[in-house]
Order: sequence, then C-alpha cells, then structure tokens
Amino acid sequence: MNAEPVLHIHPDAEILAAAVARRLIARLALAQKHHGDASVVLTGGSLGINTLRAVAADASRTEVDWQRVDFWWGDERFVAKDSPDRNELQARQALLESLDIDEDRVHAFGSTDDFGSPHEAAEAYAEELRRASGRDADDGGDDLPLPRFDVLLLGMGPDGHIASLFPDMAGIRQLDRAAIGVEDSPKPPPQRVSLTLPVINSAEEVWLVVAGEDKACAAGLALAGANDVQVPAAGARGRQATLWLVDQAAAARLPDALRAAGETY
Ligand code: 6PG
Repeated sequence: MNAEPVLHIHPDAEILAAAVARRLIARLALAQKHHGDASVVLTGGSLGINTLRAVAADASRTEVDWQRVDFWWGDERFVAKDSPDRNELQARQALLESLDIDEDRVHAFGSTDDFGSPHEAAEAYAEELRRASGRDADDGGDDLPLPRFDVLLLGMGPDGHIASLFPDMAGIRQLDRAAIGVEDSPKPPPQRVSLTLPVINSAEEVWLVVAGEDKACAAGLALAGANDVQVPAAGARGRQATLWLVDQAAAARLPDALRAAGETY
C-alpha cells in the first residue's frame, strides 16, 4: 500500500518554491549517497518551473552531483522541440542550463519534430522507460518495466488534474501502459503526452506542489478522499512518501483536522 499524504503548508508560493527546491536538493543528495545516482521526474506548470528556478538560485545545489542525476518528465506538450510551450525547454532555461548535467541522462518526451502523433511519442517514452529499467522487452513480468524514480514532482490544475491526466478522460483510466498520448487536453495546448497513474505511483516519493486559491477546492476534494477518476490528484501516492507541499491559499479549503495535522511554516 503506497504512502498516505502528508501536508506541509507554506505562507505563499514564493516561499513554497524555495522550500521545495531545498527539499529536492537534499533528497537527491541522499539518493546519491544510497544509490550512487538519483532520478527526478519534473513537471510543467508555473509553480513547477518556479521551483526549478529556486533550485538554480539555491547555493546548496552543489550538494548534488548533477552529472549523476536522471531527469524525466511527468508530461509534455506535443509541440515543436523549440516551442516555448515545451516543459523540457522551460526546465532547461530555468535550471538545467545552469548545471553540469549529463545529456545522456536527460530523458525528454518526443516532439512534433520527431513523431507523427502524441501516441507515437508516448510509445517511444514507454520504451525508454523500459530500457532504463534494465529489464528485457519480453521478460514476462506483469508489472510495467520502470527505472527507479526518487522524487516525482507534480503540479495540479484547478480541476484536480496532474501531469496530463484530466478528470474523467481516458488517460486517468489507463492502468496497463506507461505513457499515453492526449489529443484533447482541456488545458492548452491540446496535444500532450503523459505518464500514467501507475507510473506516477511507482516513484519512491510523489510531491504535489500546489499554490493559489484557484487550487483550494481541488486540493480539498483530493485530500478528502475523492475518486481519482474525478480528481486525478487524489490518486497520487508515492511508495515511501506522498507530500502535499502547498501554500496557505491552496490549503484554504482543507478539513481543519488535516490542516491541524499538517506542518505549517
Ligand atoms: C503541464 C503540467 C500541468 C501543470 C498543472 C499546474 O504540462 O501543464 O504538467 O500538470 O503542472 O496544470 O500548472 P500551474 O502550476 O501553472 O497551475
């Protein structure tokens, strides 16, 4: 059974991004101590990218050997490689360009430059995940062949979507494949590729980083135990830890008992 959510409430979005950055640096350094390397699944969205900017600005980032970090993405917009809409491009500009990374360890989703459809790009990503798992294509295992993800970052939309898994749509129901293509995303741009919920929940730690009063209702529903098809964020559970890292505005509609049990900074 994966880990129940633990809540950390921060005063505002800026302090939240800085706190998540510091936490991420420490967690990746710890992973490298245990495993020799570390892996993080990045997210798009304004807060996700602001968190990466905060990592770039945090002097403690030198605690991580960035040459030994694998970078994955939870989702991507299916657009041209150089489109400003690309989560990968935004992450490179916010953080990766300022680090000494190993490009062979940057695992970006495909773009319209290389694939004819989001589905083709999703298939290719699933194969890259399998290769990174070290398992053979025909090893017969009934679980999805995946690498270790130490931390998987998620933003959340006002509708409770995570990655590009949207309420009541096909993607949140896909449980037997690692990645899916999306043609009709309610959040523009319409074409996207995304990890599925089982892959999200394969991560050691899943961190939902959520700020703003427009997220308060979805956060309240998700943490009150809503169904994950209606509120995809409700289904996010890491193997070892599920952290809801939020600001006061996003926490405004949470049950009092949960707020009281949470860490408030
Ligand atoms: C994307 C993201 C998406 C995002 C949420 C929150 O590609 O758009 O992966 O899941 O994280 O929509 O975005 P904001 O932080 O901008 O509200």
